[in-house]
Amino acid sequence: MITKLWKPSAQPKESDVSIQEAANLLREQQVVAFPTETVYGLGADATNESAVKRIFEAKGRPSDNPLIVHVASIREVEDLVTHIPQVARKLMERFWPGPLTLILESNGTASKNVTAGLKTVAIRMPDHALALALLKAAELPLAAPSANRSGRPSPTKAEHVRQDLEGRIAGILDGGPTGVGVESTVLDCTSEIPAILRPGGITKEDLEEVLPEVKIDPALTGKDTPPVSPGMKYTHYAPESPLWLIKGEDEFFRNQLHELQEEGYRIGVIASNELAEKLHHDFVLPCGSRENLTEVANRLYEVLREYKKSDIDLILCESFPNYGVGAAVMNRLTKASVKIIEQP
Ligand code: TXA
Ligand code: MG
Repeated sequence: MITKLWKPSAQPKESDVSIQEAANLLREQQVVAFPTETVYGLGADATNESAVKRIFEAKGRPSDNPLIVHVASIREVEDLVTHIPQVARKLMERFWPGPLTLILESNGTASKNVTAGLKTVAIRMPDHALALALLKAAELPLAAPSANRSGRPSPTKAEHVRQDLEGRIAGILDGGPTGVGVESTVLDCTSEIPAILRPGGITKEDLEEVLPEVKIDPALTGKDTPPVSPGMKYTHYAPESPLWLIKGEDEFFRNQLHELQEEGYRIGVIASNELAEKLHHDFVLPCGSRENLTEVANRLYEVLREYKKSDIDLILCESFPNYGVGAAVMNRLTKASVKIIEQP
């Protein structure tokens, strides 16, 4: 398959040729990658089972992992769900368009391979001009997981999508680098108290401005319960070389690095600007300041993609504070890692 690459203007209109071409392919049940404010998504008609099947095929994704449906208006949500609870409406008004995905009761319009047979459906309105123009032009709700090969770090640039999926999908809309850098927060609105199933761009602290109470799914805090969000049980975001996550002071990190180097490992480091400056090591990718977790989130997937297994045997990565968007960063790093070393 030849993958078309479009580069629309930064202020795209529905009538732009590139948007129209992409929308037509979506209506013909093809899959097209497009930018959102979080990461690039791989879109297909959410109401069409064979179109959605192509997403799973292109990504090599297990089909028991449900997808997020993207819409351009709250009106479109009504077509997909049995009802919109008050609390969900409040959240949409406050945070949409934006990186918040709401789990609501499905009315069966989203195809069964979107919901993986669940009675619920995940929906969000992306805060990106290109994504919104595409959704309006296609006049379809679009199922869209991150546009990476399953298991790889999510794409934050069109180039990442090309590396993973060229030849496997109909097209890529290039909107430049994404902003937030980690995926949307997934919030279950079907439980009595809304529950965060995946931390993301909208933080728990943000949600607490609107909601009297927010739970964190026990599966996220490492307790031994089965995952509610099926996506939680697969290896995710993995770089080419194994990643070890180091939890401790800078001195502890430095000692770990030296010990492993002495054992002969070629080590790549991912660290905050602050730690990176102290290390004097050849392979260090700084991913932003500890004081600026927004920047760390924005850089995270790109640095995870950067180290190649031909150069590096092992990646040592610093851990970050677990609040604000740092909760999303730590969630992804924990999943990306094969080992966590904690300072005693
Ligand atoms: O930022 C994002 O959310 C990106 C962009 C492209 O919009 N999309 C994304 O989609 O991350 P995906 O498919 O990679 O992640 C979907 C997450 C998974 O953790 C999945 O298990 C969960 O949402 N999910 C989807 N439907 C669900 C449902 N009905 N119940 C519980 N979890 C659900
Ligand atoms: Mg993903």
